[in-house]
Amino acid sequence: MNKKALIFGISGQDGSYLAELLLEKGYEVTGVTRRVSVSTTERINHILPQITIAEGDITDGFSVNKLISEYEPDEVYNLAAQSHVGTSFKQPSLTWDITAGGVLNILEAIRYSPRKDDIRFYQASSSEMFGKNYDEVENKKYQDENTEFIPQSPYAIAKLAAHHLVRNYREGYGIHGSCGILFNHESERRGENFVTRKITKWIGEFAAWSEGAEFGGAAIILPEHMDLVRIYGRPLNKPEFPKLRLGNLDAKRDWGHAEDYVNAMWLMLQQETPDDYVVATGETYSVRDFLDIAFARVGIDDWSNLVVIDPKFYRPAEVDHLLGIPIKAEEELGWKRKVSFKDLVHRMVDSDLA
Ligand code: NAP
Ligand code: GDD
Repeated sequence: MNKKALIFGISGQDGSYLAELLLEKGYEVTGVTRRVSVSTTERINHILPQITIAEGDITDGFSVNKLISEYEPDEVYNLAAQSHVGTSFKQPSLTWDITAGGVLNILEAIRYSPRKDDIRFYQASSSEMFGKNYDEVENKKYQDENTEFIPQSPYAIAKLAAHHLVRNYREGYGIHGSCGILFNHESERRGENFVTRKITKWIGEFAAWSEGAEFGGAAIILPEHMDLVRIYGRPLNKPEFPKLRLGNLDAKRDWGHAEDYVNAMWLMLQQETPDDYVVATGETYSVRDFLDIAFARVGIDDWSNLVVIDPKFYRPAEVDHLLGIPIKAEEELGWKRKVSFKDLVHRMVDSDLA
């Protein structure tokens, strides 16, 4: 018989890749989506005929209970969250209810399920939980499973509460629950208000606008409007394009491709013993580095005239440096990332150009 998987957060970036992976492996996949006024299935429309969509919201314990008893999953993946760190400062209570409270609802549903011992649970923990903390060896700052968490945002604090809940239910009730402490992972399907996609989407739109113009050097000028780009020779009816507005360009992240990371989620649930694993590339780059590679892909070596620093995008508390060491995942799960940082950026830019 095929294994059954229930995915909370199937409409998100990771949910869509995970659903594809599980279908390839022969799973019966049910994905939970919440009722909204517009469709949110854009990332999974291509697989809709092969999966079941069920309505639910992880903040509603009754609906979570019902889903787990009705679909009788072998594996439950919780990818649902208010996942934007910046937004969590603006909507901390909502973030808490979804990102921490929702996980408690799922754990309770599993705990009281007659099939408790047959269910394996994956929780999407986050490198944001490390916050401002890192370990250091020979001037290399890094985080791994032994690094202490000092979270820096309502999002990260909610994720850390959920992380401890999973550990507590694992130790207290014997639930087979594992947490993936995943570092940033992006893709062509990344939400448009995360910094990587915001950059590549802007480049795609800018390239379309300036089609035919010569990029680089003298072609781009900074005239009286500091926030707008002008290109010599543009028709006068459409002479300007809004600049790319960003916040902190010095933050460093360990960026991988989501396709690689969903494989780690699945591998965790194939282990006899549940555990927590760091999933990362072992490399770190700044937002500035991302900009360099992304703009170079369209032939622009100097992007300084195209980007405006807007304090609106600064966070009240920032996470400056993330670099994960995935040795445990590599050795115990046999996980290995395939997509390099440069290929990730190129894939995202190419997709937005297309
Ligand atoms: P995402 O694209 O923002 O997807 C989040 C998903 O959660 C969406 O499907 C969203 O549904 C759903 N959701 C939000 N609130 C919900 C609720 N109350 N009930 C049910 N579903 C709800 O996030 P992602 O990048 O795929 O990340 C997946 C998970 O991994 C998240 O938990 C995130 O915090 C965590 N994580 C991500 C990264 C990363 O770099 N991507 C790294 C570490 C951890 P709608 O479509 O209706 O909004
Ligand atoms: N979103 C955004 N928008 N971030 C910006 C901007 C901007 O205009 N300008 C600079 N940044 C900086 C942020 O301050 C942060 O330091 C960095 O770019 C990355 O921001 P995001 O892409 O929003 O991701 P994140 O690192 O805060 O959070 C992501 O990764 C976490 C794992 O470490 C999300 O996917 C979280 O859900 C995930 O847990």
